[in-house]
Parts: sequence; structure tokens; C-alpha cells
Amino acid sequence: MTQTVRKAVLPVAGLGTRVLPGAKTTPKNMLNVVDRPILSYVVEEARAAGIEHFVFIVGRGQGAIEDYFDSSPEIESILEAKGRVEILADVRRDLPKPGGMSFVRQMAPLGLGHAVWCARDIIGDEPFAVMLPDMLMAAPTPCLAQAVAAHGQVGGNIIVVEPCPAGEAHKYGIVALDGQDGRLNRMTGMVEKPAPGTEPSNLFISGRYILQPEIFELLERQGKGAGGEIQLTDSMAELMKVQAFHALEYEGTTYDCGDKIGLLRANVAFALARPDLADAARAAITALL
Ligand code: UTP
Repeated sequence: MTQTVRKAVLPVAGLGTRVLPGAKTTPKNMLNVVDRPILSYVVEEARAAGIEHFVFIVGRGQGAIEDYFDSSPEIESILEAKGRVEILADVRRDLPKPGGMSFVRQMAPLGLGHAVWCARDIIGDEPFAVMLPDMLMAAPTPCLAQAVAAHGQVGGNIIVVEPCPAGEAHKYGIVALDGQDGRLNRMTGMVEKPAPGTEPSNLFISGRYILQPEIFELLERQGKGAGGEIQLTDSMAELMKVQAFHALEYEGTTYDCGDKIGLLRANVAFALARPDLADAARAAITALL
């Protein structure tokens, strides 16, 4: 029997240079897609996968994230007095259960591997999810739930992947597979930003992982890798020598909200997918075109 995945680590302490200057005063994952911050969608996705405890790895100046996931007595009492029940429900939708969120400071953005390592004491000795919140996944079955189901099937470590556009593999972390049969395949390796033409597959690591707690011992010793940062990929490659890793090609569409055009695409797609907004959104977009 595999152990249940109850906790998720959400590293949000990066600088967000690709969406500056907006990310200067608003943490990038607090930028809106339609009418909610990006993080609201990611937390919703995690809850649908059974996650009970969220560990945010934050940096300086990101207090807005903690405030967003807290009650807002002034706004709520005004909405209550005015009988604006629908908006009130929206305002309260993302509130955690008491004790269901932790915020850990990563004192310097030393890399994703370092950010995940900062969660070690809260995660303890159980498998956990890592979600890169700037990747927004629209899927009939929420992406992390697909990963948790795969973990229930094969155990070990799961990395969510998807096909990258032709000729773009050199921009991503790419997985190597031990044969390809269906969507869930045993991995043999991974490579960060392979030189063009050397990529072992066309599947890139897209921002959702289920990892075993042994990763923390490796992160503890992990030296700097690509870009001078402590890379999660390097410790995962080490762990793969002793534990099974499977790549899950999930069913759905990814929007990279850490990038200007990706954020624009997400706004358009999520507005068009909203029954209450679709017609007006389509009319507005058509008029602009
Ligand atoms: P990215 O490299 O996509 O995010 O890291 P970034 O550094 O914020 O963005 P750019 O490249 O400067 O535009 C993936 C995720 O890991 C987090 C980021 O916040 C993002 O959610 N991260 C990265 C950390 O929490 N700490 C780090 O040291 C590095």
C-alpha cells in the first residue's frame, strides 16, 4: 500500500523577473487570472487531490500571500451587511482549515532545490507533492489528482510531463523513459536544457511532482547546478539511482503564468471557460481582433 499524499510544497520565493515590473510589489503568483490570483487556482487543484496542508516557501515582500489566505473582517462584514452573498462566498472560498497552511521564508532565492529543502521539517517522513504555482493546469481531472492516482498505482516518485513544441526541448527539463506505453512510464533519467538534437524525449517536466522524503537528504548536500542555483532536478537524478521514478503525461493544458504571453493566454482561456463570462469575453476579444 502506498502512503497517502497529504502535504504540498508551493515554492513562490523566486524573483519573477519575466513578469517585472508587476512582480515588484505583487508576488507573481498573486497576479490575477480573470478575477482570482494564480495561487487560488493552484490551491483549488491541490484540494481536489486530497491535499490537507500547504507549505508555501516565500521571500521578502510576499506578505500579500499570507493575507490572501486569511480572513478579511472589514470586507466580509461590509459584504454581509449588504447581502452580497455570492461575492462573500468567493472571498471566503480559499480560506484554509485552521493550521492547514505554513509559510517558510527562503532567505535568498538560491534555487528550486533549496526552496523545497526549506520545507523538510514540516513535511517530515512522508511522500509529498511539489507544485510550481506559475504553471496553471486546466484539466478535466485536476492535474495533481492525476498524479496522486498514478502514485497510488505505482508508488515511488511521480513527475508530471507533457510534450513540448517541436524544436523547444533545449528550453526545458526533459525526461528519459524506459520505453513508452501509455501515459505512465518508468523513467531512466532527466536532463536540464539539453543541447538541440540531444534530447532523450519530447516530454518536459511541467511543474507537478510527488516525491519521497529521502529527497531531503540529497538536497541537504546538493551543490549548485545549472545557472548557479541549487537544482531540484540534480537531487531527483541522484534519488533515481535508488528509487523508482515514473513520468506521467497528464491530460490537460498548461499555461506558464510566469511569462507575459503565458499569463495573457491563461486569462483568455480561463475567461472563455467561465460560463458566466464566456459570451462577454468572446465578444470583447473578437472586437479587439
Ligand atoms: P522560476 O525560475 O520559474 O521562477 O521558478 P522565478 O525565478 O520566480 O522566475 P523568473 O525566471 O525570474 O522569471 C519556479 C518556481 O520556483 C520558485 C519560483 O517562485 C517559482 O514559483 N522558486 C525558484 C523559489 O521559490 N525559490 C528559488 O530560489 C527559485
